[in-house]
Amino acid sequence: MDAHPGDPPLIYLNNAATTWPKPQGVLDAVTRSLQTPFFEHGRSTAGSAMDYPSETRAALAGLFHAEQPDHFIFTRSATESLNLLIHGFVKKQGAPFHAITTELEHNSVLRPLHTLTGEGRLSLSMVPFQESYVTLQDIKKALQPETRLVVMTHGSNVLGSLQNIRPVAEYCAENNIFLIVDGAQTAGQVPINLEAVPLGAFVFTGHKALFGIPGIGGFYLDDPDAIVPVQQGGTGTDSRSLAHPQEMPQKFEAGTPNYPGIASLLAGIRFIEHEGQDRVTRKGRDLAALFISEITRDKNIILYTPAPDLPVVSFNIQGLDNDEAGYILAKAYNIITRTGLHCAPLVHDRIDSGKGCIRVSFSCLNTPEECRSAAMAVREVAEGADR
Ligand SMILES: Cc1ncc(COP(=O)(O)O)c(C=O)c1O
Repeated sequence: MDAHPGDPPLIYLNNAATTWPKPQGVLDAVTRSLQTPFFEHGRSTAGSAMDYPSETRAALAGLFHAEQPDHFIFTRSATESLNLLIHGFVKKQGAPFHAITTELEHNSVLRPLHTLTGEGRLSLSMVPFQESYVTLQDIKKALQPETRLVVMTHGSNVLGSLQNIRPVAEYCAENNIFLIVDGAQTAGQVPINLEAVPLGAFVFTGHKALFGIPGIGGFYLDDPDAIVPVQQGGTGTDSRSLAHPQEMPQKFEAGTPNYPGIASLLAGIRFIEHEGQDRVTRKGRDLAALFISEITRDKNIILYTPAPDLPVVSFNIQGLDNDEAGYILAKAYNIITRTGLHCAPLVHDRIDSGKGCIRVSFSCLNTPEECRSAAMAVREVAEGADR
């Protein structure tokens, strides 16, 4: 949106979609990465330049407490990661099997599973959430003798709830069920310890709370033999062989990497390390709590997230369509929110009859002043609503 003289200052509250602004260190890293020749072991001899992929895998292993840096695979996004993992797992199984997912999921989980169900490659059970959580007990109710796969989110992008993954992971590990956890909303937002929880795969995206640029994401895969690669190509290694290399990480990466994106991810991780992961988590929760305490002073605001674990607040204004409310906030107040269905249709069926809602989401770069101004604007819009 172009700025005009006299406009109120821009307040960006759509960080659950993608964080903005990016820290200066991230912008500088992208520029720097493009100013020097790319270098990666096996692909280039420019020995003096930075090996961004290796450095970034090491940084991810540090941030997420993972044992094997080479088991981090770079992709374009959480969406691509989920597709590679889900389709790769199905390919590995060969025969149809039963999978479980939850009503909290984003379309990047629901649509691949729906497609594969339609093709007869798997049968699917959908676990409902209670309040805003899915527990191991809920998942156990959906189990069948041939259940081989569970895909669930770590953090809901609508309800801001952080799921207790550990009991699910321990149960799946004991029962030979592959667990894919979608950490798109949690990576960079809350502490993650992959050593402490036996996941099959953990999916992250670079452009949200990790503060990288769009176009970079990835996953951590504990057992490289759990899934089959669905793409093959150049790796810069073993080039005489027509068979794609089986070593990690090349097994699941083909083609020229997104060096600027990877550089941005590395700088984003360094930013979080510098701020402190615990501080980042706390700041997000405090901003969400402040915003909620301010907007709930108006009785016409219907809040779907009374105590979110993540800095995500979803609500509606009685008597006003959510898209219209978002439009007024953008045009009259210069406040960017997100309205509609947030790519998680099953959550909306449960909370707002599928009509969608207004979502405000903070990053650790937002301030309490922005939070208060936005809450005041929401209350003003609510006061003006036609009831
Ligand atoms: C819970 C969840 N999963 C997956 C995604 C997809 O992420 P990406 O944009 O990296 O594909 C999102 C993004 O909105 C999300 O919120």
